[in-house]
Amino acid sequence: MEVVGKKDLLPSRPEHVAIIMDGNGRWANRRSMSRMQGHEQGANAVREAIKGCREFGIPYLTLFAFSSENWARPTEEVNHLMGLFRFFFKKELKSLLEADVKVTFIGDINRLPKDVQKLAEELVQKTADKDKLHLTIALSYGGRAEIAEAAKRLAEKVKSGDVNAEDISEENFGDFLQTSDIPDPDMIIRTSGEKRISNFLLWQAAYAEFFFLDILWPDFTKQDLQIAVEEFATRNRRYGAISA
Ligand code: FPP
Repeated sequence: MEVVGKKDLLPSRPEHVAIIMDGNGRWANRRSMSRMQGHEQGANAVREAIKGCREFGIPYLTLFAFSSENWARPTEEVNHLMGLFRFFFKKELKSLLEADVKVTFIGDINRLPKDVQKLAEELVQKTADKDKLHLTIALSYGGRAEIAEAAKRLAEKVKSGDVNAEDISEENFGDFLQTSDIPDPDMIIRTSGEKRISNFLLWQAAYAEFFFLDILWPDFTKQDLQIAVEEFATRNRRYGAISA
């Protein structure tokens, strides 16, 4: 089904959609299923989000797949999620290549099991020359940690004389973040009805439009993305200035 003519989405189509995928556990609970089954269904919704971005011509998608705080979940759940990433990274390579999707990661990837790190690196290398959609997967990611890490690297550069402290600005600080090669998100979606940013893209979210959807992540479809994208076009984005 052609959901919406691309022309209809212009000129206010978002360039970068970032998603906090929330509600897998509640989705499973409501069906007397295990949380793990909820995460498995959540992986299907990831495919929907990718398909939707390709169909609506959105060039950047960032997914919050595992936060630095998620390490505190029961070992069984963490292991299951790692298994799911392992499976997804292997199984989806072919379809990601076919859909011209370039994949990169942000977060403290070194904390992941070695084989998951290796699969992630392979995904990055093999999709590096794709250019229709840049998919960023946030794994073991925390916004404050990312900012503190950037500040530390900048401080080292100041110490070694490579950077003058007076030259640090809002414009160039972003170059030290892990997202330096992608634009800031202009649209952040969170499912499950929760209305929090939960340490996601704190610096980058400065001017993003927020969409809190009352559906659980496993139920997310590209039609939900379409509705949010259409609403995005109606919002008046002023960046602190006054309306035209
Ligand atoms: C939040 O729901 C979801 C997660 C912590 C995991 C997200 C992972 C996936 C969607 C799996 C596949 C992802 C990729 C990139 C292959 P929750 O468990 O916090 O739900 P709850 O708040 O209802 O308990």
